[in-house]
Amino acid sequence: MSGSKLFEPIKVGSVELQNRVVLAPLTRFRNDDDGSPNADLAVPYYAERALVPGTLLIAEATDPSLFAGAYPNVPGLHTDAQVEAWKKVTKAVHDKKSFIFDQIWSLGRVNPGVVQPKIYGPSPIADGEAKVPEELTKEEIHELQQNFVTASVNAINAGFDGVEIHGAHGYLVDQFFQAVSNQRTDEYGGSVENRARFGLEIVDKVAAAIGADKVGIRLSPFSEFQSMKDENPYPQFEYIISKLQEVHPDLAYLHVVEPRVSGGSERVWNEKEESTEPFHKLWKGAWIAAGGFTPESAIEYANTHENSLVAFGRSFVSNPDLVARVKEGIAFRPYDRNQFYNAKAKEGYLGYEFAPELKGKYY
Ligand SMILES: Cc1cc2nc3c(=O)[nH]c(=O)nc-3n(C[C@H](O)[C@H](O)[C@H](O)COP(=O)(O)O)c2cc1C
Repeated sequence: MSGSKLFEPIKVGSVELQNRVVLAPLTRFRNDDDGSPNADLAVPYYAERALVPGTLLIAEATDPSLFAGAYPNVPGLHTDAQVEAWKKVTKAVHDKKSFIFDQIWSLGRVNPGVVQPKIYGPSPIADGEAKVPEELTKEEIHELQQNFVTASVNAINAGFDGVEIHGAHGYLVDQFFQAVSNQRTDEYGGSVENRARFGLEIVDKVAAAIGADKVGIRLSPFSEFQSMKDENPYPQFEYIISKLQEVHPDLAYLHVVEPRVSGGSERVWNEKEESTEPFHKLWKGAWIAAGGFTPESAIEYANTHENSLVAFGRSFVSNPDLVARVKEGIAFRPYDRNQFYNAKAKEGYLGYEFAPELKGKYY
């Protein structure tokens, strides 16, 4: 396996990675009630996944403000306590000579929390009580964009190597991107260009604040999670990617989810008509592909796609040593979906031992 491009160095923004296997962002709800990563849980969790030096980890979706998101036990980056807590995580990863970006999100219409922003588009929440989402005012749009900027600056202060804007999976940025959810008639809706505006402005503003080489963005043109997916996603996402290539060719990376998955699950997909290849052709910089990869298909992908990395999600839950397992050809331990989201539980979060075959070489 070590002959594969997957284990050749690659530059991503300002960091030099030693391999191209990436930890996909994974919401696990293990944070303290104040949105601080827990020192006894998150620190060893991320440190274990940084086992192979020169690996890129993308930390779980993080709230840039209470207005942006209010799922319980999700981390934040808007208080001093949260920044201090994240410092322990980033230090532990850097001590292993690996790297870590933080994913920043805003929930928009899927926000179930106590702080209910004026959500946007028809709500997919089927609890009978779902509020009809309201259109964000211009003031609120600018406030939310500023939240992303402040959180990104906080991320750098907390020791992150960069941030990933969560433009995927039906959260706010994606709600703006897609016609299926965006019903605005002002300059933030109504056309391909207008729908792209909210997210592209966030990239502009965050890049201006921390440097484009510390910013990535994630897109999921085919995901149906949270009632998303335009009938024909190509014009919209081709425009977004072309614009990013034109304005921010030095962005750290573009992260695009394959049509095989919707959020964290498999989806039925049309192999003839759905493909990320047209998007890949439009982007010259570092490219992260995610969704339904096996070690074999990841090796094949890296060998056949210029400048590419492959992110793993679910298998990283039960295999903290996943990068070494891929490199050494050791089978993955199966994951248990029941352990994904249990708030604050140590069980199913820590305690997955490294493969004994790796002893002496990796630990
Ligand atoms: C438990 C869990 C949590 C996830 N949390 C996030 C998240 O915070 N942000 C995100 O963009 N995707 C999230 N995803 C999607 C993953 O990043 C990834 O794209 C998906 O699992 C497909 O990759 P895989 O087939 O390797 O699992 C999550 C998936 C799972 C299973």
